[in-house]
Amino acid sequence: MAVLLSSTALSAVVARLRAAGCVFAEDEAALLVSAAADGPGLDLLVGRRAGGLPLEQVVGWAEFRGSRVEVDPGVFVPRRRSEFLVAEAVALARPGDVVVDLCCGSGALGVALAEAVAGLELHAADVEPAAVRCARRNVARAGGRVYEGDLFGALPGPLRGRVGVLLANVPYVPSGEVRSLPAEARLYEPKVALDGGADGLEVLRRVSREAPEWLAPGGHLLVEVSGRQCGRAVEVLAAGGLVARAVRSKEWGSCVVVGSRPRVHG
Ligand SMILES: C[S@@+](CC[C@H](N)C(=O)[O-])C[C@H]1O[C@@H](n2cnc3c(N)ncnc32)[C@H](O)[C@@H]1O
Repeated sequence: MAVLLSSTALSAVVARLRAAGCVFAEDEAALLVSAAADGPGLDLLVGRRAGGLPLEQVVGWAEFRGSRVEVDPGVFVPRRRSEFLVAEAVALARPGDVVVDLCCGSGALGVALAEAVAGLELHAADVEPAAVRCARRNVARAGGRVYEGDLFGALPGPLRGRVGVLLANVPYVPSGEVRSLPAEARLYEPKVALDGGADGLEVLRRVSREAPEWLAPGGHLLVEVSGRQCGRAVEVLAAGGLVARAVRSKEWGSCVVVGSRPRVHG
């Protein structure tokens, strides 16, 4: 795909995007031109973007750790800062590990981990049917399976006690702050993907209560929170019975908390 445009027509697209508030209007115009099949198709894509739809949902993919991940309308757009969480997981995963990407959205995190470490057995789950449909296409490329349902309730029972790496990029925005998010997130990503309850850590509390029984001895739970939630998130994972530590990213202003199940219970 890609439309051939005169420089005047391209400038008109750039101007339309800029007028709609797109800061990187030239780059976005180039992406939309490459994604469109023909002139009317381009007009449609530019209209959607100018109307506020996230660029990734308009073109149907996002870049994550150097690969394209399909992203449908209504599905959380994987954030580049979550590459930090995946990098921490890559350092901990061992070939042959069972990996679960809980709250998987598009499935970007689990797929990226499976692409970086050979021989993983990937499972993913989400409560949102649109996310599950989208993740099934992405996760298939890593040979994994995707389930629909509420947190661990979606997973097949035989995974209990076998998970080597549990990724859980759960919603962590405090409810009172959802209304302050950029319009792209607030209007075009589902609230269930963003809202983490009163202090943003409600879903994380639920995950950390159940995680120890799903993790294999020596297995790891990895979650992402904002920098200011870091200390409390460590306490949440420790309260669930895991040995917890935080790794901060200056670049993204975020924090990854790793909770590990001891190999031997004392
Ligand atoms: C912040 S998004 C992260 C998506 C994906 N992991 C990523 O990083 O791109 C949170 C995801 O959690 C899902 N979710 C929220 N509550 C859930 C629940 N109770 N059970 C399963 N999934 C849930 C949402 O549908 C959404 O896809």
